[in-house]
Amino acid sequence: MTSSNPPVRLAPSILSSDFSHLCDEVNLVIEAGADWIHVDVMDGHFVPNLTIGAPVVKSLRAATDAFLDVHLMISHPAQYLDDFIAAGSDMVTFHIEAESDPLPLLQKLHTAGRKGGLAIRPGTAVEALLPYVGACDMVLVMTVEPGFGGQSFMVEPLEKIVAIREAGAEDLDVQVDGGITVATLPQALQAGANVFVAGSAVFGGEDVPANVAALKQAMSGGRTVA
Ligand code: DX5
Ligand code: ZN
Repeated sequence: MTSSNPPVRLAPSILSSDFSHLCDEVNLVIEAGADWIHVDVMDGHFVPNLTIGAPVVKSLRAATDAFLDVHLMISHPAQYLDDFIAAGSDMVTFHIEAESDPLPLLQKLHTAGRKGGLAIRPGTAVEALLPYVGACDMVLVMTVEPGFGGQSFMVEPLEKIVAIREAGAEDLDVQVDGGITVATLPQALQAGANVFVAGSAVFGGEDVPANVAALKQAMSGGRTVA
């Protein structure tokens, strides 16, 4: 499929932004045409890095109406889910490797009127996730080992997307995260992804709006988009 339904979306990862001007960075990419804001939460345990927590989501919520797509790379998502709901996350995605019983968490998100997603690391077989796809609003297929921005795209995880598409609803969002650039995005699009996270490809270099425009053009199959 070419991902015409559900709609394609660009979700810049603020991990690669300038945190001293976080609100400006968010406004810049949204005004340039980005669709969601991807928030990478790391605990120094599930992944070997520390980033940000619910207080930053809360501050962003007060400063923007943008859709806040929160990616939890943490060992105990159940312990922190209430905090991220209260902070105003629109979507919370947690890892199947971190939670053996994901359905209650997805249910909690839905009860709170939020969207819920499940993420899968490159080395995890898709079968671990398939039983839960029907309960997800989104599945996140990692195309790098989670933990750091700026890594090289791995093509092998794209094979999982076909099985996920078959198991999920027609409007399931399938997100790819890690190493997405104008060069790699078309491969993920072709595989069936429709939500594209990009950190360094958005916030790297001098011209962030031009980066957003280039990625949006790649998302549309090369057609120029507004
Ligand atoms: C990696 C994070 C990604 C990362 C993407 O663990 O989940 O969202 O920030 O960064 P790039 O696009 O630079 O690979
Ligand atoms: Zn992420």
